[in-house]
Amino acid sequence: MFKSRSVPVRPSEITDESVWRSRRRLLLQAPGALALAAALPGRAHALAAGEPLNFSRSTRWAVQEEPTRESDITSYNNYYEFGTGKEDPSRYAGALKTEPWTLVVDGLVGKPLKLDMDQILRLAPLEERVYRLRCVEAWSMVVPWVGYSLSELIKRAEPLGDARFVRFETVRDEAAMPGLRSSILDWPYAEGLRLDEAMHPLTLLATGLYGKSLPKQNGAPVRLIVPWKYGFKSAKSLVRITLTDSMPVSSWMQVAPHEYGFYANVNPAVPHPRWSQATERVIGSGFFAAKKPTLPFNGYAEDVAGLYAGMDLKRNY
Ligand code: MTE
Repeated sequence: MFKSRSVPVRPSEITDESVWRSRRRLLLQAPGALALAAALPGRAHALAAGEPLNFSRSTRWAVQEEPTRESDITSYNNYYEFGTGKEDPSRYAGALKTEPWTLVVDGLVGKPLKLDMDQILRLAPLEERVYRLRCVEAWSMVVPWVGYSLSELIKRAEPLGDARFVRFETVRDEAAMPGLRSSILDWPYAEGLRLDEAMHPLTLLATGLYGKSLPKQNGAPVRLIVPWKYGFKSAKSLVRITLTDSMPVSSWMQVAPHEYGFYANVNPAVPHPRWSQATERVIGSGFFAAKKPTLPFNGYAEDVAGLYAGMDLKRNY
């Protein structure tokens, strides 16, 4: 495990991906060099997709792999509200209105919250965290997200003693989302976590990637990222976070309970009923590249395996 360290980054530093990559190399080779960079004061207006963000870089969960190209991260997507094709989200998500935005935190909390994007961005310091993303369809990416631990938000709502689970609900915009006309899922897209999973520091409330606010196809303006679980847990464009005392039924559990369980921890030993989960295709590595072995908990076992001590992970898939 790398030691935790973060350095401030100015929005003016955020340019294209080649600069990002060389800066990252510099950062990894000479950590002191960027410590001189000055932080800008926090932002105070609504957020459009693709705007530069103020953030620091965290290496606490650094990965060895190079990040996936920004153009791949933003053009090969799953966002079924815009269609089931990988290019549908980048083609159609522009119609989604993300300003103004309201995120509600309610249910078993002492202090329900109703936040706009400005409040969300100011709630805690934004960090860049480079995480692996492993989709249930057996492909993977490495994404430099920007955000902060979801626990920062949940603790401000003051969870009550009987809260044990968290339900995430995402936006349902009939006018902008052609996919809602299909009955492939029960809309709105909903997901769930146990409260201790939601409070784990790895669980990220993301507002950006590659230093800029989230593109709409990647879940603007604010989404969940749970890097040790299959990508479908990482719900996009969140509008409501509800603490409950019973296990939420996610959209995928509802439509195919024998294929998609509540836990959905990345597990190469448990095949999907229709395909293996032992290996993954790394997006951007080329058509003929060898597949990579999938790691338990997507490589985050050291951080999260303890959450499941004593549980049968084959039954609790
Ligand atoms: N969130 C919503 N609202 N709708 C979706 O269809 N797809 C999920 C998840 N979040 C999805 C969603 C799936 S299957 C994956 S793999 C990831 O988003 C993909 O995130 P990305 O497109 O940013 O890579």
